Amino acid sequence: ETEPVTVLVTGAAGQIGYALVPMIARGVMLGPNQPVILHMLDIEPAADSLKGVKMELIDAAFPLLRGVVATTDVAEACKGVNIAVMVGGFPRKEGMERKDVMSKNVSIYKAQASALEQHAASDCKVLVVANPANTNALILKEFAPSIPEKNITCLTRLDHNRALGQISERLSVHVSDVKNVIIWGNHSSTQYPDVNHATINTSSGQKPVKELVADDNWLNTEFISTVQQRGAAIIKARKLSSALSAASAACDHIHDWVLGTPKGSWVSMGVYSDGSYGIQPGLIYSFPVTCEKGDWNIVQELKIDELCREKMDKTAEELIEEKTLAKSCLNSLPMFT
Ligand code: NAI
Repeated sequence: ETEPVTVLVTGAAGQIGYALVPMIARGVMLGPNQPVILHMLDIEPAADSLKGVKMELIDAAFPLLRGVVATTDVAEACKGVNIAVMVGGFPRKEGMERKDVMSKNVSIYKAQASALEQHAASDCKVLVVANPANTNALILKEFAPSIPEKNITCLTRLDHNRALGQISERLSVHVSDVKNVIIWGNHSSTQYPDVNHATINTSSGQKPVKELVADDNWLNTEFISTVQQRGAAIIKARKLSSALSAASAACDHIHDWVLGTPKGSWVSMGVYSDGSYGIQPGLIYSFPVTCEKGDWNIVQELKIDELCREKMDKTAEELIEEKTLAKSCLNSLPMFT
C-alpha cells in the first residue's frame, strides 16, 4: 500500500483550518489514492477547539485519513512532516500598526522555521498562507537554511483563482475553460492580476481573453481592482475573511506542485525570486510557474508591456519595504538563546 504522507496544518483551529483539514482528509490536496496523516498545530487558547476538530475528523470516518495529531507543541507538530501548510499567525486587530503585526508574525515564523528545520522531513514542502504571506515565507526561509529554498512558497493561488472566476463570470464561460492568468508580486492589494497571456477554450479553439472581453478599459481598471480588493469585499459581506476559497486554493497549490500542472497551462505561486523578469532576487514574489515531478519552474520569456512592468515593479517595491520592516523587527526581537 502507498505510504501515507504527513501534512502539517498550523492554525488548524481557525477558520481556514476548519475548511482545509477535511479537504486534505478527503484527498482533495494529494489525490484520491494517497493516504494522509494530519498534524494540526494551534496555540494554548485554542487547544480545546483543536481537540474538537480532531473529534470531528474521527467522526467523519475519512477512508484516506491514517492518523491525526492535534497539539500545541511545535516540535511534535513538525515531526516527520512532508508538507507544511502554515495558516497560523497573528491577525491584524483594530488600531494595530503594520509594524506591530509584522513584529508578532516575524517572531512566530522565526520560531516555526527552526522547528521545521529540526523536525520535518528534509525534503518538506512549505506553503505559507498566513499574512503577510510573502514576507512570512521569507522569514521562514531565512531561519530554515537546511530546507531547500525551492521548497518554501506562499499562497497567491486564491488571487489567481479569483481572477479566473471574474473572467468566467464576465464572459459566461466555464471557469475550467479559462487559463493562464498571472498574479505578479505580493499577496496584497498591490498585486498585479495580468490577463495579457490568458486564454479561453472555445469550440473553435483557444482564444485570447483580451480578444473575447474586447474591453481593455474594463481589464485595466475594474477587473484589476475587483481581484485586488476581493478579500476586503468578502470581509464586508461575511464579516469574516475568506476561508473556504483560501482552503481550496491551498489544496490547489499543493496539488499542482506535487502532481504537476497540465501541459500548456501555468499557475501562480509565491516563490523565491531568482531575478527572473528583473525582480530583485531575495524576495518571495508571485510568478507564473509550471510544475513537474514535484518541482516548480518560472515561466520564462513572456512579453511584458510598459503598463505591466510598472505594476510588477510597484508590488516588488512593497515587498522590499516589507522585507526592511521585517528585518528591523528581527533586530528588535529579544534574544532568547
Ligand atoms: P483565524 O484567526 O480564524 O485562525 C488563525 C489560527 O491561527 C487561530 O486558531 C490561532 O489560534 C492560530 N495561531 C495563532 N498563532 C499561532 C501560532 N503561533 N502557532 C499556531 N497557530 C497559531 O484566521 P483565518 O481566517 O483562518 O486566517 C489565517 C491566516 O490566513 C490569516 O493570517 C489570514 O490573513 C491569512 N489569509 C491568507 C490568504 C492568502 O490568500 N494568502 C487568504 C485568506 C487568509
